[in-house]
Amino acid sequence: MIDDRGSDSASSLPTGARMWPSKRYAEIHQRSLQDPERFWAEEARKLDWYKTWDRVLDWDPPYARWFVGGRINACYQCVDRHVQTWRKSKVAIYWEGETGETRVLSYSTLFREVNRFASILQKLGIKKGDRVAIYLSMVPELPIFMLACARIGAVHTVIFSGFSAHAIADRVNDIQARVLITADGAYRRGKILALKEIVDEAVKLSPSVEKIVVVRRTGEKVPMKEGRDFYLSSLLDDADRMVKPEPMESTHPLYILYTSGTTGKPKGVVHGTGGYLVFNHSAYKWVFDIREESVYWCTADVGWVTGHSSIVYAPLSHGAAIVLYDGAPDYPTVERWWDIVEKYGVSIFYTSPTAIRMFMRHGEERLLKHDFSSLELLGSVGEPINPEAWYWYYKNIGKERCPIVDTWWQTETGGTMLSPTPGIESIPLKPGSAAFPLPGVDAAVVDAEGNELLPGQTGLLIIRKPWPGMLLDIYGDPQRYKDSYWSRFPGSYYTGDFAMRDEDGYFWLLGRADEVLKVAGHRIGTAELEDAAVSHPAVAEAAVASKPDEVKGDSIVLFVTLKDDASPSSDLKQEIGKHLRNVIGPIATPDEVHFVDSLPKTRSGKIMRRVLKALALGQSPGDLTTLEDEASVEDAKKGLRNNEEDVRHR
Ligand code: WT7
Repeated sequence: MIDDRGSDSASSLPTGARMWPSKRYAEIHQRSLQDPERFWAEEARKLDWYKTWDRVLDWDPPYARWFVGGRINACYQCVDRHVQTWRKSKVAIYWEGETGETRVLSYSTLFREVNRFASILQKLGIKKGDRVAIYLSMVPELPIFMLACARIGAVHTVIFSGFSAHAIADRVNDIQARVLITADGAYRRGKILALKEIVDEAVKLSPSVEKIVVVRRTGEKVPMKEGRDFYLSSLLDDADRMVKPEPMESTHPLYILYTSGTTGKPKGVVHGTGGYLVFNHSAYKWVFDIREESVYWCTADVGWVTGHSSIVYAPLSHGAAIVLYDGAPDYPTVERWWDIVEKYGVSIFYTSPTAIRMFMRHGEERLLKHDFSSLELLGSVGEPINPEAWYWYYKNIGKERCPIVDTWWQTETGGTMLSPTPGIESIPLKPGSAAFPLPGVDAAVVDAEGNELLPGQTGLLIIRKPWPGMLLDIYGDPQRYKDSYWSRFPGSYYTGDFAMRDEDGYFWLLGRADEVLKVAGHRIGTAELEDAAVSHPAVAEAAVASKPDEVKGDSIVLFVTLKDDASPSSDLKQEIGKHLRNVIGPIATPDEVHFVDSLPKTRSGKIMRRVLKALALGQSPGDLTTLEDEASVEDAKKGLRNNEEDVRHR
């Protein structure tokens, strides 16, 4: 839509002469909020419906149901629609594995495969509404199985391949999955991750699982249980070639994805079908200005929401060509990603600030021999991007030609909520700001009482109107849905993020306002980490604080009190760190473990993490009047001083 992309944004960077509101965006945004139902109905007409909706929106706070009465199928939108056009022969997926193997899937190949995979699911007894768990690394079979589920109306739950057996079991038990899909292994930094063995451990705790499908990836011999475990290849022998897509109610769940909250138990975020697809289809065009010839690469893992929306459903609904890379960014060298950009002629590249900061550490020298000329647009997601990393990305990867879209969203929002929108109009960019709310998104910064703040004041980010990508519910826990998002500011969605809006109307996202950390862009709750820590036999109590980390954003600092019969040692610190990896996964590995005699608590017994955080940062602990026992602060300081004992686990 904008052919002056790059030059326009670049020359106006960062103190462009053009002032917000830029005309086209402002006009659309205003119109979208004046009559959201009319606006979203127009957007929805861009998709193929079996039956049009009776009502655009049923808003019965806090539940929004979009395109009620309409029928649509997500797999049809992402696959069937394209094979009826010239896109039949267009590349859908360029896949590359860590060990160098490649596969190229056209839309017609994708069509053939989703049909056969859907047939397998049916033959395993999966019906509309059943939940299917998928535990795979970034192999093509992962999106294919997701789409196959969508085709027959089954609800998928993808479990990130870095999660441990316990984490899998928790999720599988919550959704009562009967079928679980995994692989004989995955490659990670040259080593094999034994996915099937991890699954075998998990299902010991998950009696609902009746059948396990095993994708061949490494060719390693893995234990197979007769009658329960089946290789995908053998199931494909008997698969039907065609499975009719199920015309799904727009409001039917498409998937459930777990994310961390403020209690120990992860929340199963339920996303719907029609609204989710409409929101993502439109947002993707606005944010990435996707074109027929684009080669788009989002480096996230499909195990997170970014992968669901920004690798699978949004790009494929546009018939885009995507890159899927199954491996570590720095293997065999830190240049691996740039080789991929060059090899496939990637034009849109979307990654996280943590990855950018990791590459910054390795310097610019080794980038010089790479050809970045295919790139047109860069994106950032998952955590605030510091201006230093922004400029580095802009200069060294985008070569000062490519605008950067800093996209703010959440697992719960389904798709991007705040971002520059070059697909509508290019605007002057401000490094570190996610710019403006997308059309249809009514964002505001408020104080603790819900009063809108003035420009420059920091407060909490809320969304004042429902939007089509909004979560339907928390699976099996409607009370938690209400409490987490809707009780703080009745009628408005509470994001849990700090934000500030500047004089030009740009939004600045300033990190989480709750007990949730962002470690390397991954969301993890302090309570989840603490629950895992106290499940170690030597640990009596645990509290987690975070400390800023130059690369990862937040780092995990764990304080523990030990049981009477346990004696402190650096081995024990190491063991506790390992225990967290086992219970949750590598993303839960603490950077520091400190033994203390007592934890600072309020008189009502609540752990004062604020005090621990301040101490971990070497700052004054602040107001201690609500503290139950002052000695605990000295204890914590002492624990921190025992630095010789500190163990770095990574
Ligand atoms: C939290 C949501 C969006 C998909 C991946 C993360 C933080 C996300 C940004 C951004 C500043 C950001 C927020 C948010 N976040 N994007 N562009 N700038 N912060 O999804 O795991 O559900 O995490 O990530 O704190 O609440 P998620």
